[in-house]
Amino acid sequence: MARGSLEETKYHLLLAKDLGYLKEDIYNNFKCNYVLLGKKINSLISSISKKMNSKANNQQPVFSYGRQTIDDDDIAAVIAALKSDWLTQGPAVQNFENALVQKFGGRYATAVANGTAGLHLIAMALGWKKDDVVITSPITFLASANCAVYVGATPTFVDIEKSTYTIDPNKLEDKLKQYSAQNKKIKAVVAVDYAGNPCNWEALKSLKEKYGFQLVNDYCHALCAEYKNDLKYAPNYADAVNLSFHPVKHITTGEGGAVLTNDKTVDMHIKTLRTHGITKDENILEKNDGPWYYEMHEIGFNYRITDFQCALGISQLKKIDSFIEKRRLIAKYYDNFFCNDARFIIPGVSKDSKHAYHLYPLQIKFDELQISKKDFFAKMKKNNISLQVHYVPVHLQPFYRKNYGFKVGDFPIAEKFYEREISIPVYPSLRVEDLIYITETILENL
Ligand SMILES: Cc1ncc(COP(=O)(O)O)c(C=O)c1O
Repeated sequence: MARGSLEETKYHLLLAKDLGYLKEDIYNNFKCNYVLLGKKINSLISSISKKMNSKANNQQPVFSYGRQTIDDDDIAAVIAALKSDWLTQGPAVQNFENALVQKFGGRYATAVANGTAGLHLIAMALGWKKDDVVITSPITFLASANCAVYVGATPTFVDIEKSTYTIDPNKLEDKLKQYSAQNKKIKAVVAVDYAGNPCNWEALKSLKEKYGFQLVNDYCHALCAEYKNDLKYAPNYADAVNLSFHPVKHITTGEGGAVLTNDKTVDMHIKTLRTHGITKDENILEKNDGPWYYEMHEIGFNYRITDFQCALGISQLKKIDSFIEKRRLIAKYYDNFFCNDARFIIPGVSKDSKHAYHLYPLQIKFDELQISKKDFFAKMKKNNISLQVHYVPVHLQPFYRKNYGFKVGDFPIAEKFYEREISIPVYPSLRVEDLIYITETILENL
């Protein structure tokens, strides 16, 4: 699609409609006046440019890589919860858990204080201990690896695939073979559906069956992604699935998270650990002094989420399909914009997957350009676009280098990806004029 061509302007027009910028009747009017289309849409775009310029003059950052979408229904749901009898440990928590199971699959859900707490509880409920080895991807948020450290296990990494940026099953098998050859076992793999792109779960599942490790899906980015045409794929492949509802994620509860599983024992264990390790289960109690009586058999935490947060989560979940649709439209816009320019690499999606675009990780070949990533970032910031990088490779963090001996060069695909990656804005409230502004500003500043 040539830049500035009629075809491109028609595409902008369609996007403008799909993104809610143009009303249906105005769109139809443009369509009918096909010959005039070029002119009309160009005047639309020039009025957009004027708005863009006024945005650029504003001192505050306008665009970040992600942000929440909160409407009046969400606010009303939180107010209703605040006016109810339960601020915490009430019915909204279980209602939210039921809604999560319905939407994302698994037999059981436990809502928790945040995604990191969810990973910690998974590590404990799956019984990770000192000297157990847990593998994850170097391109993830720290929590995917930190959860192993919390329980005294040893974290290590396997490099990512070049195109999908998820853990590479071939390299994972190489590592599993190395361990087997030394009569050592890997306890668990925390695979991350990075940016919303599902891992190669079939391959991971057959490795799990062959080598006997536990499989966790750090699914914080991937709500509503599909794998083999299945939106509820995650708990079918992993022993436990971790979600986060931080404001930049697909839906938010402020802070919040959840764990999905098909395993009743794991679920019950997680629910107990969420509240200090306290149990009132008569089958477990050593004695029973009366209806008030409770016991603690192992150390747990207060990792609970509140009812008003869950009320927000329930309200947000009702809108997630439209949120995802918009994210996918935005990604399609970016894909089309950047795909034919050799300076960029757009995120690859395997034929088995439908991406959920929590992030749009764009690779820019700074190594082949005149501008550094640092200078480009600063220029974009001046233009009110706050980019982010996902992620600084976890193995290169001082903590991991000092305590586990990782060094530059250990995971070259991840490291190269880090040099080139920037996360550009993707969230439902972006409009077509914003996308034009963002993409044009990227080009102007390279
Ligand atoms: C991949 C991944 N795992 C875990 C987490 C932790 O979630 P939270 O921020 O809710 O603790 C995040 C959140 O940023 C994440 O992106």
